[in-house]
Amino acid sequence: MLLAASLVSAALFAPAAGPVDFARDVRPILSNACFKCHGPATQKAKLRLDTRGGATKSGVIVPGKPDDSPLVTRVCDPDDEARMPPADAGERLTAGQVAMLRAWIEQGAEYPPHWAFAPLGSVC
Ligand code: HEC
Repeated sequence: MLLAASLVSAALFAPAAGPVDFARDVRPILSNACFKCHGPATQKAKLRLDTRGGATKSGVIVPGKPDDSPLVTRVCDPDDEARMPPADAGERLTAGQVAMLRAWIEQGAEYPPHWAFAPLGSVC
């Protein structure tokens, strides 16, 4: 019964568009809301979210398991003090953005390189 309920809620909140595209759908969310503190320059809580290695090594993303990923629980945290990003760091995520992050983690949390940085052979 519990499982059925969570499947229904996952279906309701899943983005309709199918496979998530990291560069188009996910990176802009992380980059706007998280990289200031968990990115290339600053790593609060020793956490960096701009690389898959950083995000999975620290265990905050468990690929395939959004419900077990602290990244998801922290952006949804009912405790305002614990919710990411912190209240004084700008806008909180919208339900649509959280749904996108969940779908991306569900689909394996890949960080494929942007085409602009891909080897020339892949486009010639
Ligand atoms: C203004 C700085 C700031 C921003 C922006 C920010 N964080 Fe954080 N984050 C922190 C600090 C400081 C901590 C450590 C204290 C704590 O756990 O609350 C932390 C801790 C965390 C943790 C727990 C790490 C651990 O190892 O337990 C997660 C997960 C997290 N942040 C995710 C995010 C996500 C996802 C975003 C963007 C949606 C984000 N944060 C944006 C400052 C920030």
